[in-house]
Amino acid sequence: MTKLSVNINKFATLRNSRGGNNPDVVKAAIDAQLFGADGVTVHPRPDERHIRYQDARDIKQIITTEFNIEGNCREQKFIDLVLEVKPHQVTLVPDADGQLTSDHGWDTITNADYLRDMIKTFQSAGIRVSIFVDPVIEMVEGAAKTGTDRIELYTEGFAREYLIDKEKAIAPYKAAAIRANELGLGINAGHDLDLKNLAFFAKNVPGLLEVSIGHALIADALYLGYENTIQLYKRQLV
Ligand code: PXP
Repeated sequence: MTKLSVNINKFATLRNSRGGNNPDVVKAAIDAQLFGADGVTVHPRPDERHIRYQDARDIKQIITTEFNIEGNCREQKFIDLVLEVKPHQVTLVPDADGQLTSDHGWDTITNADYLRDMIKTFQSAGIRVSIFVDPVIEMVEGAAKTGTDRIELYTEGFAREYLIDKEKAIAPYKAAAIRANELGLGINAGHDLDLKNLAFFAKNVPGLLEVSIGHALIADALYLGYENTIQLYKRQLV
């Protein structure tokens, strides 16, 4: 069964808008686990505009499921944090400075040497590595050559196209997943997955190990409640 990792960045966005500690990001992580999530994801950015580096340290103390830290490994501060906190998984994302949200995968061919070194750094510390890639066969093949444990398929394109033509939307992801499976890569996915598109995605992507979902899940939780929403997302994955 595909695991659900809840990205709790949006709790931090809300907290930071007023100062103070409401809502409590550590409690959001504890509750995600209590309510059935298989893991917790955070994405600290250099300006700490949502998740702070200290949040990642604090969450590590209470994690009983799987902790995934994603971010831009071109930032030394990010590398230092991950090596200190030692989450179960790090997801490497090629963000530019000041980027609103991740919007492209790695060029795994141009950045092959860089990625190989970076991946080795984290793996040597006992951390599983996933790298964010677009659903493009050459990029998946390039990823396999970097030594990464997993890829995370960037699903924004799927989510957009799903509203127009489901079969067309899923085709590149299915092909990328088949190739990743052949090459022995684990497969994660994330970005813009929601209650409407998740079941179809999970059903059609062979070997999908984990999805990380933040924006839509937290938006749904405002109406449906956090516990109920996590259960609804989990049910899309069975
Ligand atoms: N995966 C990566 C690499 C991301 O940057 C994000 C957004 O922080 C997600 C998954 C989750 O995307 P969403 O918030 O749209 O569910």
